[in-house]
Amino acid sequence: MTEFTVTRVWQATGGGRRFLVMATDFTEETAADAVIESFAPSTDPRLREILTSLVRHLHGFARDVELTIGEWEYAIDFLTRTGQKCDDKRQEFILLSDVLGLSMLTETITNRKFGVATESTVLGPFHVVESPVKELGDSIDAVGTGTPCVVTGRVVSTDGTPLPHATLDVWQANDEGFYDVQQPGVQEEGNGRGLFTADGKGEFWFRTIVPRYYPIPTDGPVGSLLKATGRHSFRPAHIHFIVQAAGHRDLTTHMFVAGSEYIESDTVFAAKRSLIVDFGPIEDPAQAEKWNVPADARHAHFDIVMSPEA
Ligand code: BEZ
Ligand code: FE
Repeated sequence: MTEFTVTRVWQATGGGRRFLVMATDFTEETAADAVIESFAPSTDPRLREILTSLVRHLHGFARDVELTIGEWEYAIDFLTRTGQKCDDKRQEFILLSDVLGLSMLTETITNRKFGVATESTVLGPFHVVESPVKELGDSIDAVGTGTPCVVTGRVVSTDGTPLPHATLDVWQANDEGFYDVQQPGVQEEGNGRGLFTADGKGEFWFRTIVPRYYPIPTDGPVGSLLKATGRHSFRPAHIHFIVQAAGHRDLTTHMFVAGSEYIESDTVFAAKRSLIVDFGPIEDPAQAEKWNVPADARHAHFDIVMSPEA
């Protein structure tokens, strides 16, 4: 808060209106109040709340770092280039929000309201095509390289009730850290993707390979920001999920491979402890046979808790 305070009241003056903080009084101390006072009384209350806080923080930040005109111009140019890098497939602004931790902060604030439900995470840019429909037990790996594994789990509500026939859209990078859409002609379209329907007990299982860590796209302004701040661009190995169940909020999340490189320093801050899962050996060869995987395949179990709609 500035030391200079004003009563935020619009005054009618002969059919017109004037601000208590006049634009002509604009100083370092009154700047934020002058802008906030300019919002019409009819402004939507939530929009007013958001803009008021944004203006106060933005002005406070500029004063705090004593922002120069040159730095302001650089920032405008950076944001312009960020926008220019966007198209119908690439969203550089979301990537910027991701590496600045804003996306995961927003998810974390939202998650607070949903208690024991599985934590949600960023969607990421690689959920771009309809995943091929698969049967429980099918493999989403069409290439056959990498370490085979089975993913199992159960979808339940926050009170533990199973959610029969929940749908699970899953997608992942291959054992070299590339999504199918990054390697057209190398990986067939739909490799590493599947749309599953859980059984009558909410249980699901599918075969795949253990994914590898990979870098986020660095050929745009976000890449220069990471470089300028001495940060790496990697995400730990993970499988993405969008889970839907009748009467419940859709859940977008990941399961992370325990022990993966970068598990402690995900460049988009999504690798939360509750989402890290062991991809351990399958102890019982008969079980491996039942799942139709080699005896040395891995097994990861991921139970998913969905939040009922309000
Ligand atoms: C991903 O996991 O696909 C991803 C998420 C955020 C930024 C870049 C990639
Ligand atoms: Fe990913």
